[in-house]
Amino acid sequence: MRLKIAVGIDIGGSTTKAVALKGKEILGVGEMPSSDPLATSIGLLGKLIVMMGCSLKDVEVLAIAGGRSSQLPDSILGLRVVKVNEIVAAGTGGIVLTGLDEALVVSMGTGTALIEVRENGKRIRHIGGTGVGGGTLLGLARKMLGISSIGILVEMAEKGDPRRVDLTVGEIVGDGIGILSAEMTASNLGRVGDTSSPEDLAAGIANLVGEVVASVTFLAASKLQLEDKVILVGRVAKLPPVLKSIQRALSSFGVKLMVPKLPEYAVAVGAGYRVSAEDDPNACLIR
Ligand SMILES: Nc1ncnc2c1ncn2[C@@H]1O[C@H](COP(=O)(O)OP(=O)(O)OP(=O)(O)O)[C@@H](O)[C@H]1O
Ligand SMILES: [Mg+2]
Repeated sequence: MRLKIAVGIDIGGSTTKAVALKGKEILGVGEMPSSDPLATSIGLLGKLIVMMGCSLKDVEVLAIAGGRSSQLPDSILGLRVVKVNEIVAAGTGGIVLTGLDEALVVSMGTGTALIEVRENGKRIRHIGGTGVGGGTLLGLARKMLGISSIGILVEMAEKGDPRRVDLTVGEIVGDGIGILSAEMTASNLGRVGDTSSPEDLAAGIANLVGEVVASVTFLAASKLQLEDKVILVGRVAKLPPVLKSIQRALSSFGVKLMVPKLPEYAVAVGAGYRVSAEDDPNACLIR
């Protein structure tokens, strides 16, 4: 079964993202804060239709993924709605956006999920993950720095230096130890003192989140022998200080990281692509 335009919608904990797809080709994207899932989905669908200069009848299906997708009906404005498991959607989005046929997809949103994708998406499995993610950045920044804006946190982190609030392996052991070199982190925020600057604390928070995600990614990638096929998606992949920490840590562990263009749309792309390519989009999920 092949369709004309599929609209993929990802109703995330903080933002809803939507993409219009023809096969693997992205025709348009849009995002809005997740408030009322139905109103947000209809709003983004309308926005994409106007942006593409087409009409509602050119869209054949709405593929919906994300935590709050279960709240939506099976038909919206006469369009068929298909719900896609979020793990399937993120895993599929990762390989569609990069062109790899197998990968460890690290989906970093409010929290972080690790997904094993094999055989061009024929088998997809949730490996686990960590509650440390974008929500952790915002939560720590709110209480430690009194900041609620991700933009301000990133700006401050770029002015600061995590080395002034973290303890390195060399500082504790005197040299490298095991697989860790002397300049790697032994204790995130382990050097925080009464006079630590807000900029250094912001850099330390971003580094903590990045390094925790890099550590679980390294362990999963080595167990699965996917060290050269790791894909990072989700909105946090667009935050330079966090991305830099992840890249630095993974490269020191010999893991190759790919960040596709539009990483924040991976779940929406994966949902739309699955539904346009397959009758049962969730059949690939290994539980
Ligand atoms: N402009 C922004 N505004 C708010 N948060 C942002 C922004 N840019 C990046 N972020 C980070 O992205 C995180 C949310 O990422 P994303 O939108 O991928 O998650 P989500 O899909 O809404 O959540 P989940 O998938 O966990 O349900 C926030 O916690 C924040 O740290
Ligand atoms: Mg998400």
